[in-house]
Amino acid sequence: MTLANVITLVKPDDWHVHLRDGDMLRMALPWSARVFGRAIVMPNLDPPVTTAARAAAYRDRIRRVLPGGSGFEPLMTCFLTDETEPKDIAQGFAEGIVMAVKMYPARSTTNAAAGVTDVRRVSRVLERMQAIGMPLLIHGEVADPETDVFDREKAFIDRVLVQLRADFPALRIVLEHITTAQAVDYVQDAAGPIGATITAHHLMINRNAMFAGGIRPHMYCLPVAKREGHRLALRKAATSGDPRFFLGTDSAPHLVQDKESACGCAGVFTAPVALELYAQVFEEERALDRLEAFASLNGARFYGLPPNTETVTLEQSPWQPPELLPVGEADHVRVFCPEGKARWRLLEPAA
Ligand code: NCD
Ligand code: ZN
Repeated sequence: MTLANVITLVKPDDWHVHLRDGDMLRMALPWSARVFGRAIVMPNLDPPVTTAARAAAYRDRIRRVLPGGSGFEPLMTCFLTDETEPKDIAQGFAEGIVMAVKMYPARSTTNAAAGVTDVRRVSRVLERMQAIGMPLLIHGEVADPETDVFDREKAFIDRVLVQLRADFPALRIVLEHITTAQAVDYVQDAAGPIGATITAHHLMINRNAMFAGGIRPHMYCLPVAKREGHRLALRKAATSGDPRFFLGTDSAPHLVQDKESACGCAGVFTAPVALELYAQVFEEERALDRLEAFASLNGARFYGLPPNTETVTLEQSPWQPPELLPVGEADHVRVFCPEGKARWRLLEPAA
C-alpha cells in the first residue's frame, strides 16, 4: 500500500550487517531486530568466525541476546581464509548453519587481517561452493596500498572479479556495499548469478561529507564514499527495480573513542534509522513503489528464501533519532543521520 505519506511493505531483511559481540551486540541487535526479519551477519569478529562451529556458537550468542518474542533470524556467514576447509563450510551449509562465505581481501578493512591473500589459494573452496550453490559475499576492494583509495573497488573488479567469475561462472556472488558507477554497470550487465547490496549511507552522502568544515570521522567507512556521480548511479540502481540490487545496510558500530582518534576506524552505524533513510531516498527519487522490491523481495529471491510474511509500516513524519547510544558502562556509539532528523518514521506493528 502506498498513500502519499504512509507506506506498508513486506517486512524487509538486511543482507549485510555487523552485529559484533558482547556489550556491542547487546546494544546493536535490538535495532536490527526491530525492523528486519532476517539479516546476513558478517563474520569479522576478533578473532573472525572462520568455521561452521564458530558460526553456530556465534548464532547462539546472538539468539541469547535477542529481545523476547522477536522472530528475527540471524543468517550466519564464515570468514574465508587461505586455510578454509571446503568440507567444513559445505557441511555447515548442508546443516543450515552457514548461509554464505564472506571474502575479504587480506587487510582490506576492520578485522580483515586474516583475509584471502590470493584468490588462487581458495580455489578448492570456491569450486565446492559453486557445486553446492553456496553464495560468496565479496568485500570488493583491492587492499594494495599503492592503489588510490578511491579506485580500489574498480581495481578489484578489473583485476580480480572478472577473472574469478570466468573461472567460476556458476558461483553465486554478492558484491557487497557497492560504491561506484563501475560496480553498478558491472553487476547490471554481467551474465550469471550475481547481485549487489547497497547501503543507505552510500545513497545519502558523497565523499565531501568526510571533509565538510573539517575531518568527519563518523562519515568514514569502507569502501569509502565516492564522488557525487557515483552516488547518483547508486541511487538509480537501487530504485530501478532491477532484482540484482538489494538492501544491505553494512551497519557497523564502533565506539566513539575509536572513531574520533588519530587512526579512526571505518564503519558507520545506521541500524536505528536505516529503513527510514532508505525510504527517504526512494521518496526523493519518486520510487517509493519500488522500495519493497529492493528492501524485502530481491534479496530473499537471490538467497532462495521466501519473503517474510509480516509487514512493516512507515509514515512520513519527521523525528529525531537517538544521536549517541550507550554501550556497556561508559562508552557510546554515534548513530548516522546526516540531516539530524529522519523524515520517515517506523510505526510499531499493530498489536
Ligand atoms: C566494517 C566494520 O566495521 O566491520 N566497516 C566498514 O567501514 N564497512 C567492515 C566492512 O564491511 O568493511
Ligand atoms: Zn560490512
